[in-house]
Amino acid sequence: MRTIAVMNQKGGVGKTTTSVNLAAGLAARGRKVCLIDLDPQGHASMHLGVDVTGSMPTIYQVLAGEKTLADVRHMVAPNLWVVPANIELAAIEMELANVSDRELILRDALQQFAKSQPLDYIVIDCPPSLGVLTINALTAVKEVFIPLQPHFFALQGLSKLLETTARVTRRLNRDLKVSGVVICLFETGTRLASDVIADLTNFLRASDSNAPWANARIFQTKVRRNIKLAEAPSFGQSIFDYEPKSAGAQDYLSIIEEVIAMEAAGSVPQAA
Ligand SMILES: Nc1ncnc2c1ncn2[C@@H]1O[C@H](COP(=O)(O)OP(=O)(O)OP(=O)(O)O)[C@@H](O)[C@H]1O
Ligand SMILES: [Mg+2]
Repeated sequence: MRTIAVMNQKGGVGKTTTSVNLAAGLAARGRKVCLIDLDPQGHASMHLGVDVTGSMPTIYQVLAGEKTLADVRHMVAPNLWVVPANIELAAIEMELANVSDRELILRDALQQFAKSQPLDYIVIDCPPSLGVLTINALTAVKEVFIPLQPHFFALQGLSKLLETTARVTRRLNRDLKVSGVVICLFETGTRLASDVIADLTNFLRASDSNAPWANARIFQTKVRRNIKLAEAPSFGQSIFDYEPKSAGAQDYLSIIEEVIAMEAAGSVPQAA
């Protein structure tokens, strides 16, 4: 089983679009996938048509210790489950403030879940922050994918993000690796985008070989800016259901092929 947190504390860089379409596309390719929405905005849930109403249990109850992941997941397509979130999750940071081992809750829940439910992929859509929710995600997974929008400030937040992964690696999860960077909202033909990608490549090459991001790949496929990707969430559909012939669908399909190729290449840190 591969466990992947899609993370960047910067807002609006393509975390949810990547998590949802990656999960949906992998499921369509026959992988058993559970997408965990770990963002109080609940965008990933809505994107896959899960409208969290009144009494519907969410990831909040799992983190509060009241339910298991198996209790709260929904099947939304063949091979695809979603663990939803809503705004209630915003309170968890404060509620867990005095709980010991609060960083380990999701890890423990996931381990229990994986035993009862054979899955190939768990994908976690992280919120745009480096708080307790993101730390829980980083503690629970083996892999991090970082979506990046290639503009002038793109690399600025990156050192903070990588520092956080390094800290989690030291304290909580020795197996954690940043395995991929996904360039999102890519404007073809702009000089700036290629400059940012070149800077990032140099930075990764120059890294200490023990750093958790030392072997991170920048996916060959860049996800182009495509209006269909922005429209799909309001229809509660992945890009593959909403507009399978769009450039957005092509790009995510190609990313998925790269993600699957990592399995064959044996470059994937396998979870137990
Ligand atoms: N390749 C793309 N082309 C066009 N629009 C896109 C693309 N990727 C994402 N978007 C749109 O850009 C906005 C931000 O994307 P998304 O919600 O995936 O980012 P995010 O990092 O999850 O944001 P947040 O930090 O708020 O969780 C959304 O409206 C989304 O539909
Ligand atoms: Mg999001």
